[in-house]
Amino acid sequence: MNLWPKRFPLFPETASRLAQDVDQLYFFALLVTAVFSLLIAALIFYFIIRFRRRSEDEVGQPERAGLWLEITWSVIPLVILLFMFGWGSKVFFDIRKPPRGAIEYYVTGKQWMWKFQHPEGPREINELHVPLGQDIKLIMTSEDVIHSFYVPALRAKMDVLPGRYTTFWFNAEKAGAYRLFCAEYCGAEHSYMRGSIIVMEPDDYEEWLATRGQTTAAAKTGADLFSAQTCDTCHRSDSAAQAPILHGLFGKEEQLADGSLVLVDENYLRESILNPAAKVVAGYNALMPTYQGRLSEEDLVGLILYIKSLGGPDSADASASNQATTQASSDREE
Ligand code: CUA
Repeated sequence: MNLWPKRFPLFPETASRLAQDVDQLYFFALLVTAVFSLLIAALIFYFIIRFRRRSEDEVGQPERAGLWLEITWSVIPLVILLFMFGWGSKVFFDIRKPPRGAIEYYVTGKQWMWKFQHPEGPREINELHVPLGQDIKLIMTSEDVIHSFYVPALRAKMDVLPGRYTTFWFNAEKAGAYRLFCAEYCGAEHSYMRGSIIVMEPDDYEEWLATRGQTTAAAKTGADLFSAQTCDTCHRSDSAAQAPILHGLFGKEEQLADGSLVLVDENYLRESILNPAAKVVAGYNALMPTYQGRLSEEDLVGLILYIKSLGGPDSADASASNQATTQASSDREE
């Protein structure tokens, strides 16, 4: 349901159910604000007339409101505001928490463009083609400064930060092209850092993918990089002596030397590649050299996708002993 009449195009299109949820909340807040503003304004005029000075020497008398009146005008706004808080929290968490099983695309922001990496291999700049009616999760990072990924038609916005991954998700209900903006001032050409999200019928999307020709899946590129950087000399699947085995690792909780647990997610893998000594898994020495400055953001994404392609704790080839410890972590998704 689109609440805003089409004839008054003050609002951007709504392309997802979450966008409609945001609008409903917004219009409710607008309605409450309007009703109370009008009520207060009307009362001011009424009291101006009702309690006007009727003679030259009339002196005002102090008035005290009754207790019931004080309680009423405190409790009613409290209830309305708590209702809006609860509703707002629900919408906020729906927007922030990507559903499990969403298709994952990687986004890299840089001065001044958006780069996209499809799971099937194709890369795009300033345009992202996605299928209609699917949960789409974007895993985003920046090569330089802070950017912000903002799609008005989805009513959602997320900061894109150098040095870590943030997520953004949506499920578009309407095919079409939707504007993408950078919403964080990031330098001279910030206002040109625009793009579009192109939502296509699933068949059209398949066709579009096919026209991109034979592209190498990002995980395959990562696998090549893995050998090229000689990661495989230590991270071998037949020996756990020097470095943790990467098969079945993604999504697992690893114990560190100090006894604390860390969830193996994109941010942990990234940190461990760039700054291996930061969080060393218990039982291993900090032998790994840093790859800071030797890998681009795309390289990192390729390596992470390769490690993900080796399966998580739920996949069949992971050892049975991993299963119990990781059940808890797999129930989380961030
Ligand atoms: Cu990127 Cu503003």
